[in-house]
Amino acid sequence: MVASWSPDSWRSKPIVQVPEYSDNAALAAVEARLETFPPLVFAGEADKLKRALADVAEGNAFLLQGGDCAESFAEHSANHIRELFRVFLQMAVVLTFAGGFPVVKVGRIGGQFAKPRSSPTEKRGDQELPSYRGDIINGEGFTAEERIPDPQRQLEAYRQSAATMNLLRAFSGGGYAGLENVMRWLLDFEQKSSFGKKYKTIAEEIQTALRFMHSCGVTEETVPTLGRTTFYTSHESLLLCYEQSLVRRDEAGGSQNWYATSGHMLWIGDRTRQPDHAHVEFLRGIKNPIGVKCGPSLEPDALIRLIDVLNPMDEPGRLTLICRLGADKVSEHLPKLIRRVEKEGRRVVWSCDPMHANTISTANGYKTRPFDRILKEAETFFDVHRAEGTRAGGIHVEMTGSPVTECTGGATANISEAQLKDRYATLCDPRLNAAQSLELAFLIAERLKHERDSMTVPSQPIPAFG
Ligand code: PEP
Ligand code: CO
Repeated sequence: MVASWSPDSWRSKPIVQVPEYSDNAALAAVEARLETFPPLVFAGEADKLKRALADVAEGNAFLLQGGDCAESFAEHSANHIRELFRVFLQMAVVLTFAGGFPVVKVGRIGGQFAKPRSSPTEKRGDQELPSYRGDIINGEGFTAEERIPDPQRQLEAYRQSAATMNLLRAFSGGGYAGLENVMRWLLDFEQKSSFGKKYKTIAEEIQTALRFMHSCGVTEETVPTLGRTTFYTSHESLLLCYEQSLVRRDEAGGSQNWYATSGHMLWIGDRTRQPDHAHVEFLRGIKNPIGVKCGPSLEPDALIRLIDVLNPMDEPGRLTLICRLGADKVSEHLPKLIRRVEKEGRRVVWSCDPMHANTISTANGYKTRPFDRILKEAETFFDVHRAEGTRAGGIHVEMTGSPVTECTGGATANISEAQLKDRYATLCDPRLNAAQSLELAFLIAERLKHERDSMTVPSQPIPAFG
């Protein structure tokens, strides 16, 4: 028998990776305020994303999910958001036009503030303090005061998410994302790199095609998707008191189902996916599409148990398995997971997070991810799916549009360990910069093209960009 669910049923379950607030009255007051605030996304949008992900699961589209490891209160500017959006569009163009698949675009943005940590404390010299857990919880500065969890931060996270969402909606629908701008998404200095040149070639072809279409009368007026795109938001569902405060019933859509309205898609982290714990309990009852991070400790039996709890009706598009196994382990672990899911006949999206199991510390004290390890995990992910006869459905990356120096390597950036200090800006994990992100997109596009060329089904119509 399935136990009943309510937005607060997670509260009676064991929970890890959440802060202990010292002032319960202040926390309750924040929750009560958040409960009165408008939703950031609508149920109908979450449903639309679920349908798009069902297409991915069927092998007809590709999921691109990415953004900051952790959004920051200090770095909240139009520039920062536009830079990410710009690179995202570049990657989507490459995947769509070079790879041949429509791309479902999901940002790690508009709510990606709470971080699980491998250690509850951080030591610097003789001083040991509680770890930084993301701007929605405490401060990054290494002082005892900053590290105290403060519930007021949740209100600031909501405000920032709303403003970010607003700008993203404007960028997506207000012309910037229109294919007419395909060349504007590449900055001048980027045009000189080899991948920038490759992008320019695609962009020129698109412009030629658009000119031809215009002369045939196909314009933004007749085909509105030429002038806009659909961009969804996502984040890790970690701080459950915040998430619960933003759960709403779908009254407008008439279903009366419960939806998380803090973002379109939420995922469960690798450290909080225990099937009988609070995070799984919370997510099983909301109707949004959800993700589960699958690390190397996840065994096939445990995965099936999770799927049973999170997607008992086998609803297509509901569940994305975000595998983060490591460049060395993926070829050993992934086939076991795939075979079991296939054997049980469960419908999932298989996505690859080539970032989180490839993190190393350098001798000069930086957390980094070598770009060749990231590429290797992504390539192996495709190889394994090909061998198993299943679909590599998506990629999940930590990336930014700025020229940061956080991951070593890359054909254009070619960042050395000594250069990491130059522009190391992340609040948490190292991100791909714009050049590395574009390079990864080209590599995946090649693999996708291969898939498409080998598809035996009748040829598909030209994929839509929007
Ligand atoms: C993350 O995506 O930022 C993260 C913490 O991932 P994981 O749960 O896979 O470690
Ligand atoms: Co991370």
